[in-house]
Amino acid sequence: MLVLAAALLMSCAPVGPATAIRPAEAGPAEPLDLPAFSRGEKTFRKRGCNACHGFGEYFGKCPDLSGVTERQTPEWIRKWLIDPDGMRQTDGYARELSARYEAVMPTLGLTGREVEDLLVYLSVNGKLPGSH
Ligand code: HEC
Repeated sequence: MLVLAAALLMSCAPVGPATAIRPAEAGPAEPLDLPAFSRGEKTFRKRGCNACHGFGEYFGKCPDLSGVTERQTPEWIRKWLIDPDGMRQTDGYARELSARYEAVMPTLGLTGREVEDLLVYLSVNGKLPGSH
């Protein structure tokens, strides 16, 4: 079971240089911005994202964020993080998503910097490639 979970986790994590970290963006994968990743990691905890979300774990009421940057474009995620209320009203996918989960994502008043750092953090499923 653990092995299976590990395999599932691994399959979501970028495994090598050929894996585009942000496939939604055109062009080759950029190297990971480590300082942004670390800030994103802190922001994820400081802003309480981790109370509702995990990567490869499902807490029941909120989406698992594994692979979210493959499901969604960076632009969509930016808009969502800044204004989930507005997105639930105007965006079809956001509405559909919200109908599937019991919880409702709050507007957290994130700064532009925090959003960009979170995007980097999300792009590698909250883990440095090669770490556990
Ligand atoms: C109170 C719980 C809660 C908190 C805190 C929260 N979220 Fe969410 N999030 C949700 C729920 C629930 C959804 C599904 C849409 C909805 O119902 O609002 C969601 C959706 C998302 C999505 C889209 C997921 C997908 O599958 O497309 C992303 C990305 C996301 N959240 C990131 C974050 C980040 C980053 C933070 C912290 C800044 C955060 N969330 C804080 C509950 C939460």
